Amino acid sequence: MNDTYTHGHHSSVLKSHTWRTAQNSAGYLLAHLSPALSLLDVGCGPATISCDLATRVGHVLGIDTAEGILDTAEATKVERGADNVEFRLGDVYRLEFEDNSFDVVHAHQVLQHLSDPVTALKEMVRVAKPGGLVAVRDADYHAMSWYPEPAGLDLWMDVYQRVARRNDAEPDAARHLLRWTAEAGIERDRVEASVGTWLYCTEAERLWWGALWAERSVSSAFGTQAREYAIATEEDLAVIVEGWKEWMTDPSAWFVVPNGELLIRV
Ligand SMILES: C[S@@+](CC[C@H](N)C(=O)[O-])C[C@H]1O[C@@H](n2cnc3c(N)ncnc32)[C@H](O)[C@@H]1O
Repeated sequence: MNDTYTHGHHSSVLKSHTWRTAQNSAGYLLAHLSPALSLLDVGCGPATISCDLATRVGHVLGIDTAEGILDTAEATKVERGADNVEFRLGDVYRLEFEDNSFDVVHAHQVLQHLSDPVTALKEMVRVAKPGGLVAVRDADYHAMSWYPEPAGLDLWMDVYQRVARRNDAEPDAARHLLRWTAEAGIERDRVEASVGTWLYCTEAERLWWGALWAERSVSSAFGTQAREYAIATEEDLAVIVEGWKEWMTDPSAWFVVPNGELLIRV
């Protein structure tokens, strides 16, 4: 599989991803963790979640297809003193592990970027131990909501949807999670579904979220792909940047990201 990762790992993207913690991004999983467990974190990225999860289990292995981000993951590990975490290159479509290898197999905001999330789910279930858990969580872009509503943010959503779909990915992944598990042959009664939200509305949150998306829209892989695919012109991207700046300067600004969450009992 030669998928194109819509976000890339530009510093503006990492400003968002490194904000993530086990508490704000994997709360639905935490009650199931204990020190005796091993956990595979698929698509670990900069690994702030992986290192946080490592404080709750015995061992974490983080894998990612992007070699460069594993240096950032290592830096996160050193900064946190997370001695029970390791990282290696790895592809969810071809996990290099025996069947029944991990107690918990976790993937946060990964399935939405894949052209074949069903094969990915089958692989994750394969390497999880009987009695163990597969935990996945993905956003639903079309279900995001915000105030104020500058034209640039509607354009941002339209361009994001088209770029992600051009990459054969599913930006509204949350609403497809149960269908994907069914197509992977996972019985419905083994799956517990929930929704967890991120809300950005404090002064610090709106300045951080607005500024990083203004920068991402022109400087990250998303902006580059939008231009390359002829989905957005420079003028369109400038409208998007202005939209984010307008949104972030309103003291009443509000932005909600809904995330679908599945716990699959193996
Ligand atoms: C949106 S980031 C999420 C990172 C991290 N889980 C988090 O939430 O902070 C998605 C990550 O999945 C990785 N990825 C994409 N395709 C992958 C694949 N086939 N196998 C493993 N990782 C993959 C990307 O390189 C990227 O680091």
